[in-house]
Amino acid sequence: MTDASTWVSRDVSRISMSAIKEMAMRSAKVPGAASLTWGLPSFRTPEHIRQAVVLALEDDPEIGKYALPDGLPELRQIIARQHVAETGITVDPDRNVVVTAGNMEGLNALFHVLIDPGDEIIVTDPGFASHFQQIRLCGGEPVFWKLDEARGWRLDVDALPGLISERTKGIVLVTPSNPTGKIFTEAELRRVGEIARARNLLVLLDDPYSHFVYENREAYFNLASVPELREHVAYLFTFSKTYAMSGWRLGYMIIPDALKREVLKVHDATMICAPRISQVAGLAALTEEPVHLSRFEDILAERRELICRRLDRVGHVFEYVKPEGAYYVFPRVVAEHDDSFAFAIRLLEQARVTVTPGSAFGPSGEHHVRLAYCVAEETIETAFDRIEDYFGRA
Ligand SMILES: Cc1ncc(COP(=O)(O)O)c(C=O)c1O
Repeated sequence: MTDASTWVSRDVSRISMSAIKEMAMRSAKVPGAASLTWGLPSFRTPEHIRQAVVLALEDDPEIGKYALPDGLPELRQIIARQHVAETGITVDPDRNVVVTAGNMEGLNALFHVLIDPGDEIIVTDPGFASHFQQIRLCGGEPVFWKLDEARGWRLDVDALPGLISERTKGIVLVTPSNPTGKIFTEAELRRVGEIARARNLLVLLDDPYSHFVYENREAYFNLASVPELREHVAYLFTFSKTYAMSGWRLGYMIIPDALKREVLKVHDATMICAPRISQVAGLAALTEEPVHLSRFEDILAERRELICRRLDRVGHVFEYVKPEGAYYVFPRVVAEHDDSFAFAIRLLEQARVTVTPGSAFGPSGEHHVRLAYCVAEETIETAFDRIEDYFGRA
């Protein structure tokens, strides 16, 4: 008889399936469940991007072929121009830009470059669950840097030096944060950058959400815009959310010259290149004015107000901090429960509402749940009607 478990490596055995996808799969088996689990916006890829792809399929004889490993030259050029426009930092399309199959693939390549078994990467707690899994898959250890919940999930920069060891290679940051929606301040981020530079660490800025900051645009700061940090920052942008292109699998990274060849070794060995057709879509996305963006942001802003209004009515179930950006809220569960996973399963099975258990986002996430409000308003309304029916009104 075959015992498949003997085939499975230690690194794979010790990680678990992302709780987000786990809940999405369980939810799919519950007819009519109102799902707030997956951060998958309800928007369609904008028309002009789809049209550019239709044209390329008709007219471009190369469209079905591999691209160069680091991406189409014209796309890398426009990315470099975009980066200067957004950060003021000049980068070279050949030396600093790699087009990826999304930020997950980009981060995976970077973690492979950085991590020897036992090396450490500092991640915020709570933070994005998949980062922890990727680090472990490379034989590394995520080191949890507790966010300050009492002060609205701020960075606790004073605690950072105490987490750095001989084995530390990098620090991962997401702002606005997934799962808390917190925008980290410029002052905090600059201090993190200074510590990273002094200790020769790489800061990995994973950026899916910087275009969703609502009334807090002034509060958003991109650490990749600090000239002194250019050798210590890897900036990763994904088209998934800003351009509603999650299924196209496209992103890019801006990295120090010295890392590009190393990253390409991993990228080539896993992907060869980002799908060419998606690169054509990306080219259209960056060439045209992103007129869809204010509409996306306005709709998400309304959904944020809606979910906060509904959360205000169930203070006996959830206590929350209003999110500043992205499209998640991360309330503490104050209703009676054992742990966040059991709570999420109970909510799904007994109330037909799907949420993501907070424990997936790190130790500090226990007794919280993540609610994604990028879904249609009626899904949010249905979910909260059911929560009110199940727990009773306050
Ligand atoms: C913090 C964070 N990083 C990365 C991703 C995935 O990005 P991509 O689709 O570019 O792989 C997500 C998606 O939810 C995310 O929230």
